[in-house]
Amino acid sequence: MDLITIKNLHKSFGTTEVLKDINLNIKKGSIFGLVGHSGAGKSTLLRTFNGLESINSGSINIDGLEVSKLSPNVLRTLRQRIGMIFQHFSLLHRKNVWENIILPLQCANIKVDNKKIKNLLELVGLEDKANSYPNALSGGQKQRVAIARALAMQPMLLLSDEATSALDPNITGAILELLKNINKELGVTIVLVTHEMEVVKTLCGEAAFMQQGEVLKSGAIEDLFLSPDPKMREFLGENEILPKNGLNIRIYFPKCIAQNPIITQMARVLDMDFNIVWGNLESFNGVALGVLVINIAQSHKERVCNYLDAQGAIWEIVAQKSEKPNE
Ligand SMILES: Nc1ncnc2c1ncn2[C@@H]1O[C@H](COP(=O)(O)OP(=O)(O)OP(=O)(O)O)[C@@H](O)[C@H]1O
Ligand SMILES: [Mg+2]
Repeated sequence: MDLITIKNLHKSFGTTEVLKDINLNIKKGSIFGLVGHSGAGKSTLLRTFNGLESINSGSINIDGLEVSKLSPNVLRTLRQRIGMIFQHFSLLHRKNVWENIILPLQCANIKVDNKKIKNLLELVGLEDKANSYPNALSGGQKQRVAIARALAMQPMLLLSDEATSALDPNITGAILELLKNINKELGVTIVLVTHEMEVVKTLCGEAAFMQQGEVLKSGAIEDLFLSPDPKMREFLGENEILPKNGLNIRIYFPKCIAQNPIITQMARVLDMDFNIVWGNLESFNGVALGVLVINIAQSHKERVCNYLDAQGAIWEIVAQKSEKPNE
C-alpha cells in the first residue's frame, strides 16, 4: 500500500521550473531514496511532502491527504506526523539533549511521557547523554539527538535530507544502521535524499534518480543498478574500458545466482579461456549483486551464450563504442 502518491507534480521558482512532471509512489513502511546530483531538485521535492514548499500543479497525496489543499489546521496536524532530519542537525545549543528531544511535544502542547523519551534515548544509543549539551557531543551523537527529536511525535514518515553528508564515513554507517533499525522496529516510512550511491545501496529498497528536475528512473534498487539503461549508466558514471578485440559480454547477477561461481564453472565446463575485463560486485540492501564483463573469442559466442542462458544469467553483448557513436 502506498503512503505517498505523487502525480504530475510541477514546481517553479520564478520562471525556472525545478520539478518537471514528477510521478512517484512510495510504499508504506519502505525506505525510499531520492538520488541525484546537486541542484537536481531533491530537497525541493522532499519539502513539498510536508508543505514546506508549495507546488504549481499536480498532486501529492500523503496517507489519503492532498497536501496542497489542506487547511492550515489540518496541514499542521499532518506536519506533526512527519519528522525531518538534515545535514546540519539544527539543535538548540542552550538546551540539553532531553530538552531538545521533547521540543516538538512542547510546541504541540502534548504532555511529555518520560518513559517514552527514555526509550527513544535508548533506541538512538544516547541513554547516558540526556543532560549533555550539543556542544559536548560529536557529529554522530548530534544527529542521533536530531533523529530522536524527529521521532518524538511518533511520526508515520521520516524525511531525511542528506542526514549523513556531514559525518565521517564510519559514523555514517552507524547512523544508516540506526535508520534501518527505526524503520524495522517502529515501521516508520523513510524518504531519504542523498547524492551518495552507497547510502542508497545499503539502505533503500526502492529509489528514484533525479536529474534536472526530472525523475530519470525509479524502481527497485537491484533493477536500477543491475540493468541500467544507457541514461542510467551515464548517470552512474560507469566507465568501462573494454578491449576492442573479441566479444565483450556483460553478465548481471540477480539475487538467485549472485553467490554461484558461475564464471569459474563456465571455464571448466566449456574448457575455454576468457578474461574478466570489468567487474562490479556490490552489496545492495545486504544482498550481494554484481555485474561482470568478460571478453571471449568471437568463435565461442554461441557456446558461451547458450551456457549463460542455461544458468539463468542475465547477459547482453556489449556494443563496441564505434558502433554507437551517439552513446
Ligand atoms: N528558494 C529558492 N529560490 C529559487 N531557486 C531555488 C530555491 N531553492 C532551490 N532553488 C533551485 O532549485 C533547484 C533545485 O534545488 P534543490 O535544492 O532542490 O536541489 P538538490 O537536488 O537538493 O541539490 P543539493 O544536492 O545541492 O542539495 C536548483 O537549481 C536551485 O538553485
Ligand atoms: Mg538538497
